[in-house]
Amino acid sequence: MHFTEVIARKRDGHALARDAIDLFVNGATDGSIPDYQLSALLMAIVLRGMDDEETAALTDAMLRSGVRVDLSSLPGTTVGKHSTGGVGDKVSIALAPLAAAAGVIVPKMSGRGLGHTGGTLDKLESIPGYRTDLSVAEFLRVLRDVGTSIIGQTAALAPADKKLYALRDVTATVESIPLIAASIMSKKLAEGSSALVLDVKCGRGAFMKTEADARALARTLVAIGRQGGVRTVALISRMDAPLGRAIGNALEIAECVAILRGEGPDDLQALVRTIAARMVMLADGSDADAAARTVARALDSGAALARLQAMITAHGGDAAIVDDPGRLPQAANRRTVAASRNGVVAGLDAALLGAAAVRLGAGRERAGAPIDHAAGIVLEARPGDTITRGDPVLHLHYNDARGLDEALRLAESAILVDEAAPAAPPLMMGWIEDQ
Ligand code: URA
Repeated sequence: MHFTEVIARKRDGHALARDAIDLFVNGATDGSIPDYQLSALLMAIVLRGMDDEETAALTDAMLRSGVRVDLSSLPGTTVGKHSTGGVGDKVSIALAPLAAAAGVIVPKMSGRGLGHTGGTLDKLESIPGYRTDLSVAEFLRVLRDVGTSIIGQTAALAPADKKLYALRDVTATVESIPLIAASIMSKKLAEGSSALVLDVKCGRGAFMKTEADARALARTLVAIGRQGGVRTVALISRMDAPLGRAIGNALEIAECVAILRGEGPDDLQALVRTIAARMVMLADGSDADAAARTVARALDSGAALARLQAMITAHGGDAAIVDDPGRLPQAANRRTVAASRNGVVAGLDAALLGAAAVRLGAGRERAGAPIDHAAGIVLEARPGDTITRGDPVLHLHYNDARGLDEALRLAESAILVDEAAPAAPPLMMGWIEDQ
């Protein structure tokens, strides 16, 4: 079979057979198919779509392009977690130690931030000394000793995704449910957990802008998990405004510490507790009430905070940041953005605020660019708050003033003050369950 025939079949709207999908994925992995042909097929998939069978075959081929981590030596049920990404989404960093303190083993491999969304690895690396590049043997040891470990994705996992994602990024072919689903699930299945909780973000600051698209992606992800033998559930949650009050790496770590002290913003606290309880249900079969009580005990007793300290120590990091967040990198400069009129905060656009944080140095516009761990934004006001002209709405934290003007412009345009706030849709919009 020539690869041009595979491209033509998809161009003409036909389903691809398994051998054609294998040719595509193997050719991407070993470099035998040139980028221009891979890109042509990716665009044909974006425009023509893939049915469930093709998406499952694509995921499986991408999974088989690398190794699968063997977690069978661990003494307990392993439950993974993944978010499709958002602004201020630091859930995993509070959730993993919380779920571990509630009896779940939480292995997590994470990525770096790109574009307006942050990355868990960058946030953790703002903790002085924290190593995200543990070997698989070290990862297993930390999981056995602490119950959770968050590391970077090893190159041996789903290498086809690394190649295809880089091409999609520069050929406008990211936005496709089958391609996103295969990309996420090939990596998640390779991580080897026996169950998986997904947080599919929906709204202005997310890949999926509409509820219909978020639900379609969630259903596809859950179906692939089931076919791969991993019990999978997906939460649909809103990403119109940033999650919590902090955007930016060290600022978000400090907010996670507050959450594990039972403090911190309500939206983040609720999301972390809800997902942790669902992980407990998957791990030990308890019902929703019992799982919520287990999670509350892990928080109230201080056990979850102690797990965070233990995880940081096991990764070579400075666990004293937990008692003294002032040890985290701090920006030298602050600039406050104030309300330009009286009213109610009707919106804080997550995508614009994410972009503003990138301009301050908190994120990167191209893969591999350096970031400033101290930079970011702290929200003083939240959607629904009544506000008077001149009241502070948010604070920009920065060291390098080169992006400040652009960040200010973006931050100002992200703030919507109106006579009244629109009826707020719920943060958590429901679960898609394994059928
Ligand atoms: N996250 C991924 O890992 N892959 C995608 O394609 C989109 C988001």
